[in-house]
Amino acid sequence: MINPAILLTPGPTPVPEAIRKLMAEPIFHHRTPQYRKIFGDVSERLKKVFLTENPVYTFAGSGTLAMEAALVNFHSAGDKVLVVENGKFAERFTLIAKAFGLNPVSLKVPYGEAPAPRQIGEALAKDKDIRAVCVQLCETSTAVLSDVKAIGEIVSKTDALLIVDAISGLGADRLETDKWHVDLVISGSQKALMLPPGLAFLSVSPKAKARMATAKLPRYYYDLRHYEKSIADNDTPWTPALTLVLGLQKSLEMIEAEGVDNIFRRCAENAQYTRDTLQKMGLKLFSKAPSSTVTAACVPEGIDGEKLCKIMRDEKGVVVAGGQGEQMKGKIIRICHMGAIGRKEIETGLGVLEETLKEMKSSSGSSCCCSCK
Ligand SMILES: Cc1ncc(COP(=O)(O)O)c(C=O)c1O
Repeated sequence: MINPAILLTPGPTPVPEAIRKLMAEPIFHHRTPQYRKIFGDVSERLKKVFLTENPVYTFAGSGTLAMEAALVNFHSAGDKVLVVENGKFAERFTLIAKAFGLNPVSLKVPYGEAPAPRQIGEALAKDKDIRAVCVQLCETSTAVLSDVKAIGEIVSKTDALLIVDAISGLGADRLETDKWHVDLVISGSQKALMLPPGLAFLSVSPKAKARMATAKLPRYYYDLRHYEKSIADNDTPWTPALTLVLGLQKSLEMIEAEGVDNIFRRCAENAQYTRDTLQKMGLKLFSKAPSSTVTAACVPEGIDGEKLCKIMRDEKGVVVAGGQGEQMKGKIIRICHMGAIGRKEIETGLGVLEETLKEMKSSSGSSCCCSCK
């Protein structure tokens, strides 16, 4: 049993010691020059990770809050939004849109595949009433990376806003917010930013800001009009998750010291290593458009995927994620390579996976076909 356990899940990811120590410092009051200096600093530094000149708003909440804010602040009841559904998290956009009386149009893409940008162009050409397009940078549930650059080219030629869920992908898979014409980028703290869960982020382009003025959906906590006013004074309208913001300042310093390009390279190399090793073990990769954030492999036929994850976690101290939702449950395992997860942890995790599979196969007499063909 490895102690402490190795966390290889696609969020939360491990939090480096330097960040944890800072977050254990005594609390202080947030309506102070001391806090405003820190918050002003992180709001500027976040732009370097989002690769944008646009404002990046920070909320106390999980990533889903920023997904909701990205829809609600820019739309009115009945507005059509195109949701590219290629996994569990993409489907959440549809659920939120329905909850707020929007009119979501689903573009279904088989799990494991990335949307073809051409299909999005066709959908927009066919229906001029579509006001926004929602896509995933990395669809964490299937480890699929979308071609946001090509999608941005297409959407920017229309009046629709491009909303990208980069909750897991930001800081692991390259996302050039401004160059690729992304209007709203959503992210969360518990992934490549190496923080505990609890902060959500949203960057807002000038095109989206103009739309905000016409949006009529009711909103309060995450109404960006409050946040716009506060951010001008390096402040938030409500009590911030102060401890997490302190941690964020340290994490952004660490990201800057390594350099975002170097981080993209490191994640890509670790992702490649993970894919190569899984394939050498005889496992089939699930994603046809692999991401640098997380890798998904099919569980061999005859092996109970949920039991595999449980044995690895409870008996060996390596925590990986299984498949999410009815369609994927027990069929895949997901191994993450973003944030503070390094080659050493991945090597150990993959070694434990191989050993556990061998033990399970020898007790079940299974061959190594995949259960998610
Ligand atoms: C791509 C993606 N979208 C949305 C979410 C939901 O974020 P949260 O659980 O922080 O609300 C996650 C979380 O894993 C995610 O990876």
